[in-house]
Amino acid sequence: MVNRRNFLKALGAMALGGILGNVYKGAGRALAEAEVSAPPLPWPYVELDVEYVRKMGHLGYYAFECAGGAFWGIIESLREKIGYPYTLLPIPTREEVEAALEEGKHLHSMMQYGAGGALGWASLCGALNGSAAAIQMVSENWKKIGDMLFRWYETALFPSDKSNEYASRHEFFVKKYKSDKVLPQSVSHSILCHVSVSNWCEVSGYASGSPERSERCARLTGDVAAKAVELLNADLKGELELLGTFTFSQTTASCRTCHFKGTNYEMGQFTRGKMQCETCHTDMRPHAHNIVRLELPGSSSSNPGKTVAGGAALTGIIGAIAGVWSYMKSKGSKKPG
Ligand code: HEC
Ligand code: HEC
Repeated sequence: MVNRRNFLKALGAMALGGILGNVYKGAGRALAEAEVSAPPLPWPYVELDVEYVRKMGHLGYYAFECAGGAFWGIIESLREKIGYPYTLLPIPTREEVEAALEEGKHLHSMMQYGAGGALGWASLCGALNGSAAAIQMVSENWKKIGDMLFRWYETALFPSDKSNEYASRHEFFVKKYKSDKVLPQSVSHSILCHVSVSNWCEVSGYASGSPERSERCARLTGDVAAKAVELLNADLKGELELLGTFTFSQTTASCRTCHFKGTNYEMGQFTRGKMQCETCHTDMRPHAHNIVRLELPGSSSSNPGKTVAGGAALTGIIGAIAGVWSYMKSKGSKKPG
């Protein structure tokens, strides 16, 4: 599609690059080159309306599920406002999406593989996956913003009150709802689709294959895309810190004093991750032995290597946990990777 608007934008992009009049001889050739070559990342970002993106994310879910929906909701909103270079992406317009939904026609877009925690494997929540991909396209600070988004997700109530409201008042962009009920809410304490969906099903009593669960994830997709844009808007103004500083869960911070991506195997650096450890690891008994061996402050080092057993086990566990905690308090929680 070659039109005057794109042409002027193309010229603008080249002028910025300082190559205008140097490499390109004719305007026609310049246009052709600029239209087919994608500029390096990050691509331009302008402030977006958080509520508009919440609705676009919800609509996107209906066409492309969670990952495709979140990515499309953010990126298509940018394309509507900025045009090039987003015009280079093979994603449908809002009109095309609405028409396809009406006709029950299947559409392709980007990031659809991420649905259901990637191909239904229920690993990383697709709404996070798609949003993080969009964030990485538009900001140098994508790691920081991504961390804030992921941690927020662990603690957020889904679907949000706003999304429940939009659905019950039919204020989202879809014409026909999977469900327009005010849906029960849950906190997942996890970025995993598996945990997020399973917890919600348990709280709500709806099966994972129900239209209500699907609608819950559509609203969640809107909520996550909206939060991503709230963070990106703040980032654009250099005001990310106003939205709070990133902190791990208390337990994760304590575990990460030893367990993080590092080179000291003996110390516990044979794992990595930033998730809430306590979601899965609740039995800390093995540490009873290890804390003694490590001779940490707050633990008994009189019997190095001695394994706690029998009646002493409980005391040992409590001692070990106390040891871990006091050790953690004596250290900071800042660790790389
Ligand atoms: C003081 C350092 C330290 C802290 C803090 C710590 N760990 Fe460990 N942890 C270790 C070390 C060292 C090992 C390896 C022990 C071994 O296998 O000899 C280990 C082993 C483990 C294992 C494997 C245990 C097994 O079954 O063999 C798990 C799981 C684990 N830690 C989880 C956690 C979690 C979750 C936390 C936070 C609640 C935590 N750790 C806090 C040092 C620590
Ligand atoms: C979603 C669930 C989940 C979360 C959250 C989680 N883990 Fe794990 N972790 C596992 C599983 C499953 C294994 C593999 C256990 C096995 O195969 O015995 C594992 C393995 C480990 C091991 C190695 C265990 C061994 O046998 O040597 C360590 C250490 C560990 N995790 C620490 C952590 C820490 C620290 C955190 C938080 C930063 C964390 N885990 C978060 C599920 C989880």
